[in-house]
Parts: sequence; C-alpha cells; structure tokens
Amino acid sequence: MKGIILSGGSGTRLRPLTKMTSKQLLPVYNRPMIYYPLNTLLKAGITDILIIIAPEHAGNYLNLLGSGKEFGARFTYEIQDEPRGLAEAFIIGESFLDGENVAMILGDNIFEDDFTEDITSFRSGGRIFAKQVPDPERFGVVTFDSDGRVTSIEEKPTEPQSNYAIPGLYIFDGRAAEVAKSVTPSARGELEITEMHNYYLQRGELDVKTFEGAWVDAGTFDSLLSAQQLAKEKLQDKLIV
Ligand code: TTP
Repeated sequence: MKGIILSGGSGTRLRPLTKMTSKQLLPVYNRPMIYYPLNTLLKAGITDILIIIAPEHAGNYLNLLGSGKEFGARFTYEIQDEPRGLAEAFIIGESFLDGENVAMILGDNIFEDDFTEDITSFRSGGRIFAKQVPDPERFGVVTFDSDGRVTSIEEKPTEPQSNYAIPGLYIFDGRAAEVAKSVTPSARGELEITEMHNYYLQRGELDVKTFEGAWVDAGTFDSLLSAQQLAKEKLQDKLIV
C-alpha cells in the first residue's frame, strides 16, 4: 500500500495566517499540522508516501520533511499548480502509484483513531469512512438505508439527507488513477472525489466504515482551535513522529 498526503490548496478561510505559509504547516499544539495525517499513515505501516503541495510553499515542505529518512519513510513530492480538486491527486500521482493500492489522507485532517486494521485489511475496490457531524453540508455526505447499505453519496449538499460526513481518508485500489481521469469537473470546477466514491459504489465495490474517535478538518479558525485542543488532550501519547 502506498500513501498520499494531499497538502495543496489555498487555505483562504485561514487568511491572513495562510498568506505566508501553507495551512498544513501551521502549528497544531506542538507539531506542524501535517505531522498528524503523517502519523496516521506511518502507524499503519505506510512508508512510501507522495506529498502533493502547492508551488509557493514547496521549499518549506522540503525543509521540514526532507527525504523522509528521519521518519523511517521515503517521501516523494509533486506540485499541484492549482487546487483543481481532491481527485486530481491520483492523476498527479499516477506514476508514483504504478497501479498499487493507495491510502490518501488530507494534510489538514486530524484523527484520534488508529486506522491500521482498515488499511492493512484492504484488498480491492474503495474504502471510505463516515462520521456523524453537526455540519454535514461542509463535506461529502453519505446516506444509508435501514440495513446499513449505502444509498447515496453527495458532495456538499445544500440539504443533506443524513449527518454522516466523509472525512479525508480514502483507500482505493490500483484503478484510482484511471477512475480519477474519468471524472469531469463539477460546477465549482473541481475534480470531486465523491465521483470516485460513486464509481466504486455503482459497482458494488465501495466499503463505508463508521468510526468512533474524534476527527477534525482544521480548515477554519474554530476547527483549528478544536484541533489544537484534540492534539493536546488526546493525541500526545498516540503520536510516533
Ligand atoms: P479545502 O479545505 O477544501 O480547501 P483549501 O485548503 O484550499 O482551503 P479554503 O477552502 O479555505 O481555501 O481542502 C481540503 C484539503 O485538501 C486541504 O488539505 C487542501 C487540500 N486540497 C488540495 O491539496 N488540492 C485541491 O485541489 C483541493 C481542492 C484541496
């Protein structure tokens, strides 16, 4: 299994903090934000990791993370010129992935849980996660029928049919790059990862797992503050780097 940390984007909601650095390099308690998703991948035994970054901050990432040797890993870097959507990561990463399975995590997503079992048991198809949140309209939203089967997946619906949000950890098989290439840009001009979920869902190959622990998408001032508190109060003894 290979790993991708998607750490580009423009971080407009965190301006002016993101005028001089990348959102995912901002401090979250005692570490740069990206260390938390990096921990999630490393703990699951993923050490071959592609880090996708925006051009203006590339030097900072190299200074901070380097070759990966210090972390017992191997880091590869790619530039995403413009934030054209999460699914573009698999197109940018096509040669890095070379047809292997992949776990992609967003550089601003912080999880309390250990996903080792979900990652190491993965064989094929797609596996994503779901968690009940008070503000599902900010995320991809999944609905289930009374037997727990997935009935729909929608990107940032104005009227969500459930409060199950899809967090930024996605596991796909060797088709990921091909599937991403089949996605057409949405009304907001992005290659939406929900289209990839729907590709696997339509083929009966999407597994959606709910989870218990805390999850923070640290993209706003309030969620960044929540991330700091989570990191201080619950994550310190769980981090390996
Ligand atoms: P967002 O938080 O949706 O976007 P953003 O980081 O640009 O912030 P804002 O909306 O405030 O301008 O992105 C979620 C994560 O995915 C974040 O870690 C950035 C990353 N991302 C990319 O790397 N490339 C992309 O094309 C997009 C859309 C997001």
